[in-house]
Amino acid sequence: MITPSGMLAGKIAFVTGAGSGIGRATARAFSREGAKVLAADLNGAEETAAMIAQAGGEAYAVAVDVTDQSAVDAAIDALVARWGRLDVAFNNAGINIENKRDHWDRLDLFDKTMDVNVRGVMICMIAQLRHMVPQGAGSIINTASTAAFSGIAGPGYVASKHAVMGLTRAAALRYAEQGIRVNALCPGATFGGMMSKRHDPESLKTKARAHPMNRIAEPEEMAEGVVFLASDRASYMTGHPLVIDGGFLAE
Ligand SMILES: NC(=O)c1ccc[n+]([C@@H]2O[C@H](COP(=O)([O-])OP(=O)(O)OC[C@H]3O[C@@H](n4cnc5c(N)ncnc54)[C@H](O)[C@@H]3O)[C@@H](O)[C@H]2O)c1
Repeated sequence: MITPSGMLAGKIAFVTGAGSGIGRATARAFSREGAKVLAADLNGAEETAAMIAQAGGEAYAVAVDVTDQSAVDAAIDALVARWGRLDVAFNNAGINIENKRDHWDRLDLFDKTMDVNVRGVMICMIAQLRHMVPQGAGSIINTASTAAFSGIAGPGYVASKHAVMGLTRAAALRYAEQGIRVNALCPGATFGGMMSKRHDPESLKTKARAHPMNRIAEPEEMAEGVVFLASDRASYMTGHPLVIDGGFLAE
């Protein structure tokens, strides 16, 4: 149990993929630290907003597909109309739908993965920067992966996460002088929807052994890194890949 320290007091935050796993844990951690949160997802965001309300925080949910630019624009505009500004955005929605050995000829899976994981992040950043630039402030965190630095997964997933890291760096440089920081979270294996959909108990053990700490992370362990990047305590950090991976990339 982490003691709240008000790291995000008064901040207005937007989270995608907030209906599950890392996104849900982060939306809840943002609220614990004092932010108001719009939880966005295809499914499950209502439940996350209800959890936040139950804990005494302020949140609402929107069902949005991050590949639908007009829907994302509308969601962000509505948030700003409601709460007056946008301080923090966590662009975290993502999919991992390939089998890394057998799907090298599946351009359909490649295209779908790039669409959600890369184009979705770009669509979200465009909408967010429209509000953050006039404010002269903001913190954007995009979810990449250890697969931004290795070829560990399927072709679309690896390419998409390398691309998220590239987009993060390009946006960080472009908007550095305008007071907007853009960083990335790079998780190692983490419990949540994606992990349980892809692995049975035996392969979870194998996955855990691939990490020097010999376990899979809890989504809350990712959320704490995102809270830090979102907060003013990370005021001189931009373009940074925050790797939280139990030592995976150190090997
Ligand atoms: N879990 C891991 O081991 C791991 C490791 C590295 C990176 N990641 C990344 O972390 C992020 C979150 O993953 P997770 O483990 O919490 O998975 P998850 O499946 O629990 O959550 C992902 C969420 O994204 C949502 N989503 C998918 N497509 C969407 C779309 N088009 N529009 C809106 N929402 C959409 C899903 O509905 C789901 O709720 C992803 O970007 C993933 O690639 C996860």
